[in-house]
Amino acid sequence: MERKVHIYADETLQRYVENAFSHDPSLHVYNDPSLTILPGFCDVHVHFREPGFSYKETIRTGSLAAAHGGYTAVCTMPNLNPVPDSLEHLQEEMKCIAKDAVIDVYPYGALTRGEKGEAMADLREMTPYVIAFSDDGHGVQSEEMMRSVMKKAASLHKIVAAHCEVNALLGGSCIHDGAYARAHGMKGISSASEYEEVRRNIRLAEETGCSLHICHVSTKESVQLVREAKRKGIDVTCETAPHYLIFTENDLQDEGRWKMNPPLRTEEDRKALIQGIQDGTIDCIATDHAPHSIEEKSRGLKGSAMGVAGLETAFPILYTYLVKKNIISLRRLMELMAYHPRSRFHIPMEGFAVFNLNETVQIHSEDFLSKGRATPFENMSVNGVCEAVYTKGKIVWQKKKY
Ligand code: DOR
Repeated sequence: MERKVHIYADETLQRYVENAFSHDPSLHVYNDPSLTILPGFCDVHVHFREPGFSYKETIRTGSLAAAHGGYTAVCTMPNLNPVPDSLEHLQEEMKCIAKDAVIDVYPYGALTRGEKGEAMADLREMTPYVIAFSDDGHGVQSEEMMRSVMKKAASLHKIVAAHCEVNALLGGSCIHDGAYARAHGMKGISSASEYEEVRRNIRLAEETGCSLHICHVSTKESVQLVREAKRKGIDVTCETAPHYLIFTENDLQDEGRWKMNPPLRTEEDRKALIQGIQDGTIDCIATDHAPHSIEEKSRGLKGSAMGVAGLETAFPILYTYLVKKNIISLRRLMELMAYHPRSRFHIPMEGFAVFNLNETVQIHSEDFLSKGRATPFENMSVNGVCEAVYTKGKIVWQKKKY
């Protein structure tokens, strides 16, 4: 068959795509010169809420939303009920994944029991089944506890993915400690609450030899700390999320869809994050897809739950606002969204997404397959429509049914 669709990929994926097209005639409708094939994206930071909070999201709705966004692999954070802090608890999540996931879903195990930061989780027994360990949603406050879990994770050859947050420096707020907070008489979350724990965790990684991945970096100081650590040869990587690359506290409105943790920071922070994705300091873009019910997100900035849906907007937003504006290349975006997350977390390359990169659409959260509808990108015009996602021998999502 003459190849008309553009395959934007390395040789391995090229072969994978050729093979898929030759075995699956239902793919032939995508052999169209207006379409581009991209490697299946991999998000190392999502919240799928099951078990425990399936009114917010399930493995089914979350993984379908991921496929809709062009993802073929995600890693699910452990702030669940029960928290996967033992093999028995982890098995509850694994059962849901085995039954309902439409793409590869790799669970994290918790670092501490109940993510309370007080006693170590059963890291050893969970090791064969988890992608890495994290207490995401909470910083591990005790240095002694973090040192112990990092030593243990290092002995098990597992990465610690750290949510970095010093509770004592939070200031009891939900937005950045900056101009918006001052103008509206609100308390703010200091940048130090993030970067002081980034600093400590890098020091502990150096001391213990643990592989460290820093979650959702949002401040310029954190970027600089990671840059320096990499220069020193410390085994540290990090991620940021699309909203921190596009928005700042100046964009805040008193609506739940602007509320996430960490909060939107300043223009200086945003610029430092952009530099970080350009110069390789930041390894991955993860969405921190954190769906909540419509009611939980309807109580303004002060009363809403923290977190926004991200899987179905990440690629078109980043393609439109970073690639089309020549801030990074499409190649670099694929490193950040597909290749580096997989190489860092040893996730095999799998599947591909078919995109129409020229079509313009408006983002409407009512089109999401996720139960989470809160997005700061609502109504924005973007390029990049996902037409189909193929993985493990079949089409798992397609826009039009043929
Ligand atoms: O905004 C957030 N939402 N940040 C977190 O750290 C946790 C997450 C959630 O689970 O909702």
